[in-house]
Amino acid sequence: MERSLSIVKPDGVKKNLIGEVIGRFEKAGLRVVALKMARLTKKQAEGFYAVHKEKPFFLSLTEFMSSGPVVLMIVEGEGAIGKVRELMGATNPVDAEPGTIRKDFADSIESNIVHGSDGPETAAFETGYFFNSLETHS
Ligand code: RTP
Ligand code: MG
Repeated sequence: MERSLSIVKPDGVKKNLIGEVIGRFEKAGLRVVALKMARLTKKQAEGFYAVHKEKPFFLSLTEFMSSGPVVLMIVEGEGAIGKVRELMGATNPVDAEPGTIRKDFADSIESNIVHGSDGPETAAFETGYFFNSLETHS
């Protein structure tokens, strides 16, 4: 059993895709075990994406992630991290496989609808960043 932290990013919320994203996860056999809506501060977005702080897109990414409400969730299931990455598609929608969330809905490499943890260590950090054990229901 694995857990992944996923986010419906501000563009996904604006495009009314909260249910679409969660529905795709559920249809793939994943379970939502924690869920909330939040508007991240710039500081919270910077802390979440700290691994990218040296990247040229860090300022723009953290401004985007704090530009509107997001939906934060933990999804659980066998191979959850890989499954979520597969359902999301490549970072740049141009490179994403047909039928993935980013191919179907994303406008650009930055406004790409959804986030998913990229490995067990980042998943542990990211789930703990937004949820405590009392907010998680396995
Ligand atoms: P995420 O962390 O959001 O799930 O996305 P990812 O693993 O597919 O991509 P990552 O390399 O971790 O980048 C994090 C987010 O930063 C924005 N980005 N912009 N302008 C650019 O070249 C660029 N590259 C990445 C995207 O929003 C990406 O999802
Ligand atoms: Mg990433």
